[in-house]
Formats: sequence, structure tokens, C-alpha cells
Amino acid sequence: MFFSTFAPIPLSLIALAAITDASPSLHQLALRDTMAYNVLDGQNFPDPSSITIGGVTYVFGTTTAGLNIAMTKNKNFDDSGTWDQTLEDPFPTDNVPAYSNWATADTTWAPDVSQLTDYDGSFAMYYAAALKSNSAVHCTGLARSGTVTGPYNDSSTEPMICPESAGGAIDASGFLDPTSKLRYVVYKIDGPAANNGGYCASTSYTSPNTSLMLIQTESDGYTRVAGPVNLYNNDGVADSYNIEAPVIRYSGGTYFLFFSSGCTSSNSYTVSYVTATNIWGPYGDRKLLLGTGDDGLYGPGGATPDSATGNFVYHSLEQSNNIGAGRQLNTASWAANGDSITLS
Ligand SMILES: *[C@@H]1O[C@H](CO)[C@@H](O)[C@H](O)[C@H]1NC(C)=O
Ligand SMILES: *[C@@H]1O[C@H](CO)[C@@H](O)[C@H](O)[C@H]1NC(C)=O
Repeated sequence: MFFSTFAPIPLSLIALAAITDASPSLHQLALRDTMAYNVLDGQNFPDPSSITIGGVTYVFGTTTAGLNIAMTKNKNFDDSGTWDQTLEDPFPTDNVPAYSNWATADTTWAPDVSQLTDYDGSFAMYYAAALKSNSAVHCTGLARSGTVTGPYNDSSTEPMICPESAGGAIDASGFLDPTSKLRYVVYKIDGPAANNGGYCASTSYTSPNTSLMLIQTESDGYTRVAGPVNLYNNDGVADSYNIEAPVIRYSGGTYFLFFSSGCTSSNSYTVSYVTATNIWGPYGDRKLLLGTGDDGLYGPGGATPDSATGNFVYHSLEQSNNIGAGRQLNTASWAANGDSITLS
């Protein structure tokens, strides 16, 4: 029912755990309970993505605390290990070894790291940075490193994906389809950036183009083979004209497109997903996964499920409706059952 590297959980144990939830040890045994909140003790860590290499889980996040990219790690995430509280910068901006020529230092959002297992085993980091030529617009670049911890290198003279007049391309996420072995990148058209910040900045600005787009690449993670194709759009005022942070995963014949919706800075932010039987869509059957009030969280978003381990990382506002107070890193495990996702 899940991926080959993820041991299936006997249904009988799930049912037992559900009715004996008061027993934490059994629950942990059965569901590998990794729900944890604010694991970096109040440090700002937005838009996380994770990858596990050699038993160590690495999480990457948006620029913060003077770091172009923030990185923390956990030597034993599966067994309630602890997160490094000292953040590192795997993609420094000081040309060691190389930061993009087109990108502005320390404006880097929502990094996502894939290992190119089907290429040369190197690591590819998709990131969004403000254009030097137009600071209102972020576009997507690709940095590479031979080791997961970096330093990542990107000596490109132009972004990988940059629909500048539409507002740019952000929140890119890589995906290797386990059935076809083909590689993809999904991202968001950042319409609000071309429209004064959009509806979330002022309700007089409606900027409907937050299309989630898909391209297929060569196994190098860069060279475009097909697309872009528009997979999904916001639902107007119900989404505050904004969806973002797309991630695609596959389980048991179903493609799951996870995304955040609402206003990043407020309690309206949520995590949802839609499903399809073909990676190019059509995607539908929208379901809410996380919202304000769940486990006492405010504005959860920026979620990234990892297929190899079942790890799930996301952020939430530290304070109600106050992004200025920062966004905390939270963790869980995820599993797919048919067309539905459960967190534990
Ligand atoms: C980074 O890219 C630059 C420019 O292409 C190159 O000279 C340098 O060797 C690269 N460094 C690493 C560590 O790959
Ligand atoms: C948003 O912009 C992209 C890039 O220009 C375009 O391909 C897409 O069709 C637009 N989406 C909508 C809903 O118009």
C-alpha cells in the first residue's frame, strides 16, 4: 500500500492504536508517532522540506537569521531524535563555491532538495530568489552539490524557470515518479508579486494567477522535456486568491498534489491536497489536511511529505495572525490509504 522502503503497518495495529490511544507506547509502536511541534524551540523556520540520507534527516528552509538557506538535521528522526538547534547555511551567498548571477543574496525562499539517484547521485536544490533586475519578482533556480549538506553551487546566468511578467515562479519541488522513473518539477506562478502583493495584501487586489504548474525534466533535474502544464488553480475568494507550496507524491496508483492556500501571514493558511490518476491531471477531490485549530496550530502550511521515510514537515505561525513573530517547524508521519492522507 505504500513504498517499498517503508514497512507497511498492519491494519490490525492501526485499529488497535485507534481504540487504545491513551497508551502512548502502543500508539508509538503502531503508528511510528512523530507528531512534534516547534521542534526548533521558537526559531523561525518557514517552508521546510526534508530528505533522509544515511539515516540522518535534513530539513531545509527559507532564508532566516542571516542564512541564505537554513538547514537543521536530526540523526534519528524515526525514533524521536532531536533536531540540531544551531542552523547551518548549505547555500552561502559569498561565492563559495558559487551563488547565482541573476539572484539577490539572502532573498531565498522555499528550498527543496532531491537526490538525483537516477542521474549521478548528486543533490539538486530548487530554490526561489529575487531577481537582481526586478526585486519584486522571485524566480526558480537549481543549485547542485555532491553532498546533501552542501555547499550548493549555482553559477547559472539566468533562472531555470522565470515567467517574469506573470509574477515569477516560486516553491519549486522535485519529484521522481516511482512507476515511470521520470522526473518532474512542480511550482507556483506567483501572480500576487505582479499585483501589489495580491488579495492578501489588500482585498482590492485580486490576482487569480497562482497556477500550480508541472514540467517534466531529464534525469539531470534541469533540462525540460515537457510542459509546463497548469495542474490546479485557486478557488477565488475562498482561497484568498492564493495557493502555493505544491508537492507531488505517489502511492498505490494515485498522485497526490499537496499545496497551501489562503494568506501566508494569517490564520487563514491551510494545507490541502487533490488527487489524480495521471500525473498531468486532472486533479480533484480536494481535501483539507491541516488548518488553524488543529492541535492548537495557527496557519499551518509549507508542508513537504517525504516518500522514502514517511516523514512530514511543515511550519505554522508561532502566534495567532502574526507572521512577524516567526514560523515554527513541526513534524509528523504521513501515509496514504487509497485517495486519503493521514498524519500521525
Ligand atoms: C561551482 O561553480 C563554479 C562555476 O562554474 C565552478 O568554477 C566551481 O568549480 C564549482 N564548485 C564546485 C564545488 O562545484
Ligand atoms: C498563469 O501564468 C502562466 C504562465 O504565464 C500560464 O501558463 C497560466 O496559464 C496562467 N494561469 C491562468 C489561470 O491564467
